[in-house]
Amino acid sequence: MIPADLFPPRIQLANTPTPLQKMERLSRKAGVEIFFKRDDYTGSELSGNKIRKLEFLLADALAKGADTVITCGGAQSNHCRATALAAVRCGLSSRLILRTVDPAKPPPLSGNILLDCLAGSEIVWVTPEQYRARDEIFEREAQRLRSQGRKPFIIPEGGSSALGAWGYVAGMDELVADLTRLDDGQVKPTTVICAAGSGGTTAGLALGALLSGAPIRVVGVNVCDDRDYFVAIIDSICRQFNETWPSVLAGGIPAYDIIDGYVGRGYALSRPEELAMLRDLVRLEGVVLDPVYTGKAYFGMTAELSVNPQVFGERIVFVHTGGQFGLFPVADQFAMLV
Ligand SMILES: Cc1ncc(COP(=O)(O)O)c(C=O)c1O
Repeated sequence: MIPADLFPPRIQLANTPTPLQKMERLSRKAGVEIFFKRDDYTGSELSGNKIRKLEFLLADALAKGADTVITCGGAQSNHCRATALAAVRCGLSSRLILRTVDPAKPPPLSGNILLDCLAGSEIVWVTPEQYRARDEIFEREAQRLRSQGRKPFIIPEGGSSALGAWGYVAGMDELVADLTRLDDGQVKPTTVICAAGSGGTTAGLALGALLSGAPIRVVGVNVCDDRDYFVAIIDSICRQFNETWPSVLAGGIPAYDIIDGYVGRGYALSRPEELAMLRDLVRLEGVVLDPVYTGKAYFGMTAELSVNPQVFGERIVFVHTGGQFGLFPVADQFAMLV
């Protein structure tokens, strides 16, 4: 267990510890043990991985006297939805910079967008081209808020900063405790697999694994961009982490792998075979993934296992990072599959 005084200030938002569940039928099919860490159970409206990061990020926002948080993401961003709802819980307002093809015709009120609006978030729609300069948009929006006498606090895309990474340092600490119980004291070699969308979850898990000293390999499956992009982001988060809290890892560099090749048609675009695999898991284990992140990561994991059942060793923990609200806006794509 990581000593409590090592953690930066934190507010309790997530329902943790989340269950670690063995997928019995899936394990039999794959020929290796497969567990799911149910981080989709971190909450109902706050479901998913982002809320673990927000425990640290919003604690910082409150400590700095902010009254409004600004963050950004794709139109159906789970991170933005979690931020909007968690901000309400903390007595803060939120402004979301959301990416869409035509800001003059924003997407309908469904899935995460509906929840953002219910939470009273102010939404700023931007094109994918404008989104590339999101740091400038953050500054512009922060300036606008300041000119109204408000106190903005910027949370980077996906909450993926060194501070946000503490969410999954804590998540890995929890998982190591789960595995220690499961293995009667001595954790067996385990591969932990997650979706990589902005890199913070993979970075936090890798930092936490190094800190724990347990024989855990961390693997991210990228759902957009490519391996080089994620290695650059994750290494930079880990570097920042070591610079900000030099005594935690004493300069140790965490190890992780990124498995590329499963982006498919692109970010938030699904192939029928990915959706069919998502459906098959619902029918096999009663577990519902999301199409954008966990569905793609699961597809990648399964594809790798079908080539070599031992590729991840004898035991896998797949981190179910939530995102199911993203299923509803694409319901029509399942019409031929159900
Ligand atoms: C449901 C879900 N899973 C996984 C991820 C990926 O996490 P990260 O952005 O920390 O790489 C995200 C967000 O990007 C997400 O919304």
